[in-house]
Amino acid sequence: MKKTIKDFDLKGKRVIIRCDFNVPIKDGKITDNTRIVESLKTIKYAITNGAKVILMSHLGKVKEESDKKNKSLKCVALELSKLLGQKVTFINETKGKKLEDAISNMKEKEVILMENTRFEDIDGKKESGNDPELGVYWASLCDIFINDAFGTSHRSHASNVGIASNVESGIGFLIQKELDMLLPAINKPDRPFTVILGGAKVSDKIKVIENLVEIADYILIGGGMCNTFLKAEGYNVGSSLVDNDNIDFCKRMLDKYPNKIILPIDLVVNDEYKDTKGVNKLINEIEDEEMSLDIGSKTIELFKTYIAKSKQIIWNGPMGVFEFKNYEKGTKEICDAVSSVKGKTIIGGGDSASAAKKFGYDEKFTHISTGGGASLALFEGVTLPAIDVIPNVEDDVTNFKKKTI
Ligand code: 3PG
Repeated sequence: MKKTIKDFDLKGKRVIIRCDFNVPIKDGKITDNTRIVESLKTIKYAITNGAKVILMSHLGKVKEESDKKNKSLKCVALELSKLLGQKVTFINETKGKKLEDAISNMKEKEVILMENTRFEDIDGKKESGNDPELGVYWASLCDIFINDAFGTSHRSHASNVGIASNVESGIGFLIQKELDMLLPAINKPDRPFTVILGGAKVSDKIKVIENLVEIADYILIGGGMCNTFLKAEGYNVGSSLVDNDNIDFCKRMLDKYPNKIILPIDLVVNDEYKDTKGVNKLINEIEDEEMSLDIGSKTIELFKTYIAKSKQIIWNGPMGVFEFKNYEKGTKEICDAVSSVKGKTIIGGGDSASAAKKFGYDEKFTHISTGGGASLALFEGVTLPAIDVIPNVEDDVTNFKKKTI
């Protein structure tokens, strides 16, 4: 069992909480604050227990100086301050005297948010590359490190693995909840267990398919991904998106698991990638110039029969181009069907989470993960480095005390 924030006496301690505040921002405004809201429980617990709370997160990718302009966490500090109902001091630095002084002057229950950790990537990818010195430095700013950034836990960054390797650490409530929901679903699924996979490319989910096909009872495949499987079965998918490098992989999977992998029987096609009305066609009727943009009505009914008999569903990836009004039906109907299942229903973050939110179903699932890539990594069966590094309750961690900068 991993150490959690509850295993520490936080009173008067400098506690760094690594959050995942990598939220969508448009014209300086946060368009979806879910990840911030989900972080509140841990932050409030630290405040209530008298910690000096230092928050850190990455935001987007920062490759050059000009990227900094739109990648500041300042707007997150304002949002957090509103949500917490208390001042959150934003420090526009990732290291140096200003940050160090601000931390030394902190009183109990105060909250600081420091600047985007990936600003450290400009000078040689120090954050993303888990530069050892940077990890030691950030660890020196705190007495206790709490990792609560589930969405980033598949990354080995200085701000998660680096710090946790150099100071006493535990996980926060958000990561705890994600593990409590996701691990049993993979290790001890309720059956029948159905996986619904969509999204653009097979290549992004090869390992997920390989791992889950062994565990699940059925895998329903929609979205852009289904075209590669249909092509592997010998159908003409017209000008649909196809992952040509992975046709053999799809053939192998279909040969090995003919009764587990369920493909569409019809699709909604258009002759251009545009939000104009499409035509519902059987998969053997698709013409060369047509591309599929959604699953068809017969496929929706077929998929619903599998969904209805399931006791557990994991869903990752939309069924079509749900951002287009004319091609949202497949994703919306699958959302509706999954939300009616009497059992565990899990959305693995990313686009399917946005779709559930858009169509108003987000409250109806057992769990919507805050991590797209991280939950996919768990579905692949790999361990997450930023959680792996956190000691178990019984581990001896006294050796951290010997390390200094
Ligand atoms: C995410 O949004 O998936 C996480 O915050 C990780 O972000 P990254 O893909 O930029 O590492």
